[in-house]
Amino acid sequence: MEKFTATAVAHPNIAFIKYWGIKDHEITIPANGSISMNLAGLESKTTVEFLAEQQSDQLTLNGKNITEIGLERVSKILDFVRLAGKINFAAKVISENNFPTGSGIASSASGFAALALASSVAAGLNLETNSLSSLARLSSGSASRSIPGGFVEWIQGEDHKSSYSKSIAPPDHWKLADCIAIVNQKHKPIGSLAGHQLANTSPLQTARIQDTERRLDICRQAILNKDFIALAEIMEIDSNMMHGVMMSSSPSLFYWDPPTLEIMRSVAEWRNNGLPVAYTIDAGPNVHVICNQENMKTVSDQLKEIPGVINVLSATPGGPAKIIN
Ligand code: PMV
Repeated sequence: MEKFTATAVAHPNIAFIKYWGIKDHEITIPANGSISMNLAGLESKTTVEFLAEQQSDQLTLNGKNITEIGLERVSKILDFVRLAGKINFAAKVISENNFPTGSGIASSASGFAALALASSVAAGLNLETNSLSSLARLSSGSASRSIPGGFVEWIQGEDHKSSYSKSIAPPDHWKLADCIAIVNQKHKPIGSLAGHQLANTSPLQTARIQDTERRLDICRQAILNKDFIALAEIMEIDSNMMHGVMMSSSPSLFYWDPPTLEIMRSVAEWRNNGLPVAYTIDAGPNVHVICNQENMKTVSDQLKEIPGVINVLSATPGGPAKIIN
């Protein structure tokens, strides 16, 4: 029996400059570039087995059999790998996350990054980081940022090869932490895939896109210079701009719950009182509160006191996607 298999782990990432809107849906060319930090401690572990006797691709995610769109997104990456590796077997894919799926913590990013790496290695391909990042991008844009390690920039690009992510600083460059305030564990009603398609219906999206280079420059410099206040200000503005686009789309998308706003207000107050903290929110109600590692416990404890906060997960900057055995 012929069998090609590999297991990979990848971390989710939190974007400081968000990607929202897609220029080319077929190959996920984003409407703008973005910058993120990988999250150590949170991970997706994905095993891919190409099997001669397997009839069609099969996906098990956190113990559940997944069909339709979820499976189609997996097969998109597998098809690319089969073509490049000259394999015509279907695959069995088993993926597990050690954090809640579908609630504003990018499980699709870590899941598809781990899938891209595991499937390419199982097929005998030896892809460079850039090519792996482009491959992961096919099924989830933000997955391209979970391939390299540390602080990462996704270059918008214009075709499959030129749209990829690269590391701008390693994980140990800056001792930051992400305290993730969980206010709702349910799967979000409108996933990011559907949300991206509504971005252009907002009149604010054009202005947001036009201003992206400025925000990317400020964020990149803030990371390189470890300038917390500069990072805090640009990160919050960028998150607010994305949610402004979401709220003014047709139909409008409101991802926040009442505690989300309460946390945003508290974070602003804590920063005014001298604690270096900043918030950013993805397509969900949970709030990522970025701080220095030395303040991780204080921030986490303060967040837990806010009514509506169910739990706080903490993460420090994470490394690249990697193969495990
Ligand atoms: O990669 P997707 O399709 O899950 O989209 C991610 C979109 C945001 O998380 C809202 C922003 C980002 O850049 O991560």
